[in-house]
Amino acid sequence: MKRTIIKNASQLVTCSGFKAKKGKEMNDLGIIENGAVVIEEGIIKWVGKTPDIPRQFEKVAEVIDATNKTVLPGFIDSHTHFVFGGYREEEYSWRLKGDDYMEIMQKGGGIVNSVRQTKEASKDYLIRIGMKRLDSMLSFGVTTVEGKSGYGLDYDTEIKQLEVMKKLDIRHKIDVVPTFLGAHAVPQDYKGREDKFIDLMINEVLPHVVDKDLAEFCDVFCEKGVFSLEQSERMLSAAKEKGLKLKIHADEIVQLGGADLAAKLGAVSADHLLMASDEGIREMAKNDVVATLLPGTAFSLREDFARARYMIDNDLAVALATDFNPGSCFTESIPLIIALATLYMKMSIEETITALTINGAAALDKADNIGSIDVGKKGDVVIHEYPSYKFIPYHIGVSTAEKVIKDGQMVYY
Ligand code: NIG
Ligand code: FE
Repeated sequence: MKRTIIKNASQLVTCSGFKAKKGKEMNDLGIIENGAVVIEEGIIKWVGKTPDIPRQFEKVAEVIDATNKTVLPGFIDSHTHFVFGGYREEEYSWRLKGDDYMEIMQKGGGIVNSVRQTKEASKDYLIRIGMKRLDSMLSFGVTTVEGKSGYGLDYDTEIKQLEVMKKLDIRHKIDVVPTFLGAHAVPQDYKGREDKFIDLMINEVLPHVVDKDLAEFCDVFCEKGVFSLEQSERMLSAAKEKGLKLKIHADEIVQLGGADLAAKLGAVSADHLLMASDEGIREMAKNDVVATLLPGTAFSLREDFARARYMIDNDLAVALATDFNPGSCFTESIPLIIALATLYMKMSIEETITALTINGAAALDKADNIGSIDVGKKGDVVIHEYPSYKFIPYHIGVSTAEKVIKDGQMVYY
């Protein structure tokens, strides 16, 4: 039997819990000083203080010494678009000169530019580049990542992206949670016929996605000039009927009411939310919708950040994620997200860590299985360089993750 013991941790930050932490609960990190974790066959078997480790465990085990280190659950990046072909560095340079993200999109740049390049990319290429991107995420201490399709917008390429993610989930140590985002942008030949495009996604692509078990979630870009509230509702309702869980890109640039729609449909999360209304936030809290905030995107587009403080003070569960994508936020950097959350979003260090662990897990409806160091959960544990979790934001923009243990196995050091 494979048994691993991590012991002598200056701080074992358990983030203990089996559901999303809302409001004030987000400050509770469940810290154990001089902590230890026992992992057996990939599952956490025991958690406590080092001197209390039951004797029988110590006999046959690989022991990892975490003296002067902080041990955390693996980070969960619960919103990314990491499988795409090509890049959009020109658009970035235009934006630096003042061009607007939505204007670039209306001119045929933006998402459809990546669609063109993703259609051309072979499956092998997407797997190779996907492995590389996952390696980079692992180096930040990420052990589960969500990935969306949406750079296909047609049957073949949407399916190709989802199949690539399935392969990557098997091949890479990081767990990949796939989301079908067929309604990510309107392709040129469907401009003005958005409803027809939604029909195509619902009738032609979605059934195959479900039959082949290619996605756990369905997501929509609900935004002025992209998909309306009605179109988004139609897409998401059809997906829900077929058993997919729901996410939504909501109220990012214009206040359309995406937050309210997420509450109405019982979405697991609503994401972005820069413009979410007070009412929408209240509805989300009432209906246990996780607010997934993506400060890397606001930063990269020079938008105002989402109202994290207001949301937490109004009892929402907030998660943080990178939104890694080739356009609005070409970064998978967790240290950047931590810096933005703590320095600019008025989130405490404790809230920020909760948002990247147990609440990230809740944003994937997996809080019963990952996101904290609790008995029965996956042995996804990261050893950070310094003796206190307070060093994590303090070392600005630099990863403190030193060793990553995934399913009880050391996979990065
Ligand atoms: O979450 N908002 C829509 N989708 C992505 C952007 C994708 C892109 O620009 O390629 C986002 O920001
Ligand atoms: Fe996104």
